[in-house]
Amino acid sequence: MTSRKDSGRKSEQKVLAQHRALREQITALRESKDSKALLDQLRSFRGSLSEHFCVEEAAGGFYASVILIAPRHQSVLDGLCTEHQELLQDTDELIARITDDGDDFVAVRKDALHICERLEKHEAQENEILQEVMNTDIGVGD
Ligand SMILES: [Fe+2]
Ligand SMILES: [Fe+2]
Repeated sequence: MTSRKDSGRKSEQKVLAQHRALREQITALRESKDSKALLDQLRSFRGSLSEHFCVEEAAGGFYASVILIAPRHQSVLDGLCTEHQELLQDTDELIARITDDGDDFVAVRKDALHICERLEKHEAQENEILQEVMNTDIGVGD
C-alpha cells in the first residue's frame, strides 16, 4: 500500500522534474531570435505549462499532498492555482498576437520574457513550500 510519505515523494519528484524541464524551455524562449522561433517556443511552452499545472492540481498531486500534510498553505496554493489560469491565458493571448496580428517581435518578446519571470517567481514559491513541507511535515501521520 502506498503511504502518504511515498505519494508525497512521487509527486515531489514529478513536480521537480517538470520545473527543470520548464527552466530549459524558458532559456530557449529567451534565446528566440525571431517571431517564428518565438511562436514555436511559445506553443511548446504553453503545452508544457498546461500539462504541468494539471499534474500540480490533480487529485493526489502536489497541491493536494501539501494541503493534506500542511493545510496552512491552503490560501497560498489557492493563489497559485489562480496564477496557473492567468499564465495560460496570457500565453494564449501572446500566441494570438503573433498569429492573428503579426505583432512585432520586440513587443511580443518583451511580454514573453515577462511571463517567464512570473513563472519563475511562481515556481520559486512552490519550491519553497515543497522544501519546507518535505523537511518538516512529510512524516506526520505515518
Ligand atoms: Fe504551479
Ligand atoms: Fe510548478
